[in-house]
Amino acid sequence: ARVVVLASGAGSNLAALLDAQADPAYGARVVAVVTDKPGAGALDHARAAGVACAVVEPSDFASREDWDRALAETVAVFHADYVVSAGFMRILGRSFLTSFGGRTLNTHPALLPAFPGAHGVRDALAHGVRITGCTVHLIDEGVDTGPIVAQAAVAVEDGDDEPTLHERIKAVERALLVEWVGKIARGGLSVEGRRVVVGTPEV
Ligand code: GRF
Repeated sequence: ARVVVLASGAGSNLAALLDAQADPAYGARVVAVVTDKPGAGALDHARAAGVACAVVEPSDFASREDWDRALAETVAVFHADYVVSAGFMRILGRSFLTSFGGRTLNTHPALLPAFPGAHGVRDALAHGVRITGCTVHLIDEGVDTGPIVAQAAVAVEDGDDEPTLHERIKAVERALLVEWVGKIARGGLSVEGRRVVVGTPEV
């Protein structure tokens, strides 16, 4: 399955997907990386892997809607079967969801519905939780509110600050994302209400 990755940051989740696709049995192939930030580290991983890149910067557009439409048009160029948002720090709007809703995954560094938004790690730490984690979910019109595909727990350790906790979460998050993008690429997904069914049941 053809996968387009949206990333705004360092791109370690993208790098994990690029490593996984070295195995031809993995089933997913990152065909392009699209970012809102021309300096994103994710672009370096894409270039090193010979994967197409595109930058769609909000500042180049008169409105969020125009940017959102341009983003959807850019992703469409690559004939994505699925879109994976990995550290993409923009909200995907109506145009994008019309084209790719139901087949766009996001990874979030907290156990949704707890601690949604751009500071999930910091918010969990500030709340004093003992267990946090990460969530792979489908994008919907809300912020981190779409149907959940998979989750993994990560313990908060004494002395953790946001960077140490986020790094520990990211190690688990990368593995979870690689596992479920592969399963979905190989077996597809369907959504019944808030339940996501991945892959065809083993006959
Ligand atoms: C990930 O933890 C993601 O969940 C969060 O930002 C981080 C991106 O990391 N939104 P990277 O850019 O994939 O290294």
